[in-house]
Amino acid sequence: MKQEERGNVVPFAPKDARENTTEPAESAEAIELVDTHTHLNDEKFADDVPDAVARARAAGVTRCINMGDTLESSKKAVELAHAYEGLFAGVGIHPEEARELTADDDAQLAKWAEDEKVVCIGEIGLDYYWVKDEPMRELQRKIFIHQLDLARQLHLPVCIHDRDAHADTLAILKKEGQGIPTVLHCYSGSVEMAREFLKIGCYLGTDGPLTFKNASKLLNVIREMPLDRLLVETDAPYMAPVPMRGRRNEPAFVRFIAEKVAELRSMTLADVARATTTNAEAIYPRLRRAEKR
Ligand code: NI
Repeated sequence: MKQEERGNVVPFAPKDARENTTEPAESAEAIELVDTHTHLNDEKFADDVPDAVARARAAGVTRCINMGDTLESSKKAVELAHAYEGLFAGVGIHPEEARELTADDDAQLAKWAEDEKVVCIGEIGLDYYWVKDEPMRELQRKIFIHQLDLARQLHLPVCIHDRDAHADTLAILKKEGQGIPTVLHCYSGSVEMAREFLKIGCYLGTDGPLTFKNASKLLNVIREMPLDRLLVETDAPYMAPVPMRGRRNEPAFVRFIAEKVAELRSMTLADVARATTTNAEAIYPRLRRAEKR
């Protein structure tokens, strides 16, 4: 997700950050989390990818999927996946970056799809929050459908961005997304809409907003949805969870989101980590085949 939110870089400091919360029973070593949607390929990490990866590992976040927004950021995601153990890539064109795709663009995406560290086509979808212009929305729909078609041909799952476009996203997935394993990242709709997406087989990703004070309807979605469809993600560098809100987000902070899920569902952090990591490997099979640490 792209939004204007600026913050400072802070080292991950589990104990200090938890001054006002209950210390978890599990140590970082005991859990294994996957940040299934992040952007270490963003320029805000230009100077400290190695440190961010190290902090993630220290927090138990052993694997991360960096999603592409454009061909350039997709390329960067693929490069990072080969430079670091535990990093994987999604490749695709984000709705805010919508443009007509050429045959060369398709060929490039298809080439990346052969790479074992490329786990999905993403992030793709619709964004009606930032884009109000109807011809641009039409272009978004067109390249969303086009990339769904590519994913089907390339036998890859998709990671979907849907902001203020739930009805159109659902309609397009029902018509054009059949048979494609699908993640709806940063789910932000109602309980009723969540049921519709779950009915067609989608997995739902939850992020920083789950920890925000105004998260009421999202809390119910996360409490009530089937655990075997839930993923945890940061969407870093944006939307840092409480208690890091306002700062630059990073994969290590996915632990705070998993802790919130544990609280909402009366589970242990270890059980949330185990379940969401199993789910990540189920929906993104290439996470399984590659090395874990
Ligand atoms: Ni994103």
